[in-house]
Amino acid sequence: MTFLLRTHSCGELSQSEVGKSVKLCGWVNTRRDHGGVIFIDLRDRYGMTQVVFDANASESRFDSNLSHRLRNEFVIQVEGVVRDRPEGMENASRSTGKIEVLVQDLVILSESKTPPFMVDDEAVTETLRLKYRYLDLRRPSLQRHLKIRHELMQITRDVLNENQFLEIETPILYKSTPEGARDFIVPSRLNPGEFYALPQSPQTLKQLLMVAGMDRYYQIARCFRDEDLRAERQPEFSQIDIEASFIKEEFIFDLMEKMMARIWKEVHGVEVSTPFPRLSYQEAMERYGSDKPDTRFELEIESFSSIFENSEFQVFKNAVSKTDQGYLGSISGICVRDRASSFSRKDLDQLTQTVTTHGAKGLLWIKVQEGVELQSPAAKFFSDAEKKALLKQFNLKPNDLVLIVADSKSKTVYQSLGALRLEVARKLNLIPKEGEGPLHFLWVCDFPLLEYDDKDGRYYAAHHPFTLAHEDDLELLKAGKDLNQIRAKAYDLVLNGVELGGGSLRIYQEEIQAAMFKALGMSLEQAKEQFGFFLEGLSYGTPPHGGIALGLDRLAALVCGVGPIRDVMAFPKTQKGQCLMSGTPSKVAAEQLAELGLSVSRRKT
Ligand code: AMO
Ligand code: AMP
Repeated sequence: MTFLLRTHSCGELSQSEVGKSVKLCGWVNTRRDHGGVIFIDLRDRYGMTQVVFDANASESRFDSNLSHRLRNEFVIQVEGVVRDRPEGMENASRSTGKIEVLVQDLVILSESKTPPFMVDDEAVTETLRLKYRYLDLRRPSLQRHLKIRHELMQITRDVLNENQFLEIETPILYKSTPEGARDFIVPSRLNPGEFYALPQSPQTLKQLLMVAGMDRYYQIARCFRDEDLRAERQPEFSQIDIEASFIKEEFIFDLMEKMMARIWKEVHGVEVSTPFPRLSYQEAMERYGSDKPDTRFELEIESFSSIFENSEFQVFKNAVSKTDQGYLGSISGICVRDRASSFSRKDLDQLTQTVTTHGAKGLLWIKVQEGVELQSPAAKFFSDAEKKALLKQFNLKPNDLVLIVADSKSKTVYQSLGALRLEVARKLNLIPKEGEGPLHFLWVCDFPLLEYDDKDGRYYAAHHPFTLAHEDDLELLKAGKDLNQIRAKAYDLVLNGVELGGGSLRIYQEEIQAAMFKALGMSLEQAKEQFGFFLEGLSYGTPPHGGIALGLDRLAALVCGVGPIRDVMAFPKTQKGQCLMSGTPSKVAAEQLAELGLSVSRRKT
């Protein structure tokens, strides 16, 4: 007894079924009419099978009028016999390519309007695809992505379940959380004038679950952030959200490394080597100009400060002054070996644009010429000793290019060189295509706890205000001293230059939490106003705890080998946060607003 309309899927049949009678269901992918004999590629999630309608064949019982009505995307059921394809007609690129099904019976299960695009046409605009996302999702590539995403979630659950984690859901209608983006808010009809905020992450709730003694928690959690969107950001996205009690940060590193290794092994059969390298935030910034360094190519940042600290070239000299701790400011750059001739004036102008949009005041280029002469807008300012030191220390050869940024703010130098490094790598094709090349996982650790905001003249939490300070820097925090030197027990997992996830150990003692709020310029009253219920919770016996959240969409994109995360989401939103298929967001009826006690006025632009 079968309850199915089919005996096999469209990806299943091979020569071992030749001679068998089968039933298939699926969508008409393509239709070729060879003078009375119609060939159809029948498609479903599992693959494609060629089915043949030959009204003159003695076995056929279907009405030939019916088979002539078939058009793309009709859903049909066929019954027929599997046979070998004639010699020379095999399709080696398909698992079912050696056979076809000679149809005896045909049922048109449902018809399709003429679709706005052919499902397998790659040249269709994204706007049209997103409007008809259900047709777009019929494409084998998107079906593959959603299948891999599903596998990822299952492997994630397996690894966490094996390690005593409990999957616990937390509310969506909730309160502002401390991730620092803008909230989406939802009006409450039952509490007029009051609003829920959709969670930016389950941060406070997962910590309270630790207070509650749940010990190990996870959730594949929906998060909502009203941010400006980019290829790797959506307003609504998913996190593999994790928290555990009585652990050191190594526990999280080890768990995540096991999880990543299992994912790549099970999905791609690829061995990922563990443990992953660790870089401190400071080292990541100084060597790569980024807190999510792409280490698949070199182009590391080098310091030129000692060579040029007393240079006649004022831009350089003014950028640095020496203290006991080292230089204030920095003269740093990258050496591009043997490719100076690939960079025209126009290219160099473009690179200058790149660094200036990241805050640098300019970019100095130096090309090494035959006879190791230096060509550069500033060459005339360089002394012979400086030139010699430059060539020797960096072992420069003809056709090398040196790109230097100098600024009295080291952060500006590193950030702009980080962007420059990526731009140069792109130009020189050093970055492998998505899904190709090696996997460079790494941990960035010891992030700063606090960041000073020049505009507001105050410190902000670099991660969130519940992040624990490094044990060696706790005294500084308690004393409110050298706040910009304090490191956090915070870490990010990076893969090929993408921030996959981030987390930290959390503060579990009131004294330290109070010192943290003080450093943030918040009184205890202000802190209570913002996080009162949470702080109250922490005051009833909090275990030492910590966790991490991985961006599931970013992880899925990397595992699938695609760029934008919308390609691994069933129903993504556009750059403007819209769903083109459903026309979301949309206006609501006046009665609905009245019921909520809201009125809408146009924002002045
Ligand atoms: P964080 O804010 O770093 O940490 O977020 C964790 C990870 O979530 C992913 N992510 C996004 N993915 C798609 N679209 C977005 N708009 C988006 N924003 C973030 C990233 C990021 O690394 N509660 C803390 C975690 C913790 O401390 O445990 C948190 O949310 O991959
Ligand atoms: P100028 O003296 O302004 O003509 O600059 C001479 C060269 O130095 C130009 O190529 C500038 O792009 C470059 N330059 C200017 N400011 C900086 C800076 N802060 N760091 C590196 N190069 C710079």
